[in-house]
Amino acid sequence: MRKKIIAANWKMNMTVAETVSYLENFRSHVDEVNGVEIVIAPPFTAIAKLSELLGGSQKISLGAQNMHFEMSGAFTGEISPAMLRELFVRFVILGHSERRQLFGETDAIVNKKLVLALASGLKPIVCVGETLEERDAGREKEVLETQLRGSLAGVTPEQMQTVVVAYEPVWAIGTGRTASPEQAQEAHAHVREVLKELVGETAAKVRIQYGGSVKPNNAASLLGQPDIDGALVGGASLEPLGFAEIIKAAVPK
Ligand code: PGA
Repeated sequence: MRKKIIAANWKMNMTVAETVSYLENFRSHVDEVNGVEIVIAPPFTAIAKLSELLGGSQKISLGAQNMHFEMSGAFTGEISPAMLRELFVRFVILGHSERRQLFGETDAIVNKKLVLALASGLKPIVCVGETLEERDAGREKEVLETQLRGSLAGVTPEQMQTVVVAYEPVWAIGTGRTASPEQAQEAHAHVREVLKELVGETAAKVRIQYGGSVKPNNAASLLGQPDIDGALVGGASLEPLGFAEIIKAAVPK
């Protein structure tokens, strides 16, 4: 059984003050929730405060939205995995489509980050997904395969057990346009097939999240698909009650 994992990607939103009031509100809604792994990835500036407030919580894990591929050095503006680990960050999102599209991240860069994240004890959430143009051209499976092979190059089956893959069709991110549960399931099944070629039987243990306009009203149907093991939630995670509702849709029945 793969435990479902629901992660909030706050992107470039939320000040420290907003984070404090969010958490208080959010906690009251998820108090009774069990059986789901919850992750919040705030902006870097809110990580220290959130870490202090969570105090090593087993219920809610801390995530980062990015990291650099070196441990330290002359890399102005970058954050290293050691800095994240010091603040008890457990997960790190790598290769989000916004980083790929707006900040030039390639599969090779994502792979370098992945290697260092794993060596540092961080659990990577590796994002893949096709653009609308690629889907319209019928190339989505090929694109996913290229991204997976490039981003996950050299990862052992053992390491892969700590990696989460997020399938996020670029055309569904922040657009209000969600992949249908059937479309998402088909893509997830394909991701798992590729993982099988890369890490064999371990593929059955890897959690694959769906991301792209996940909302309280579509979460249950997406999470009900056999290969959808969680969600990476952007916009809807900024609202504590709505995010809690998405999490509740993932509770094992
Ligand atoms: P969205 O973002 O939920 O706002 O579409 C998802 C993501 O980018 O991870």
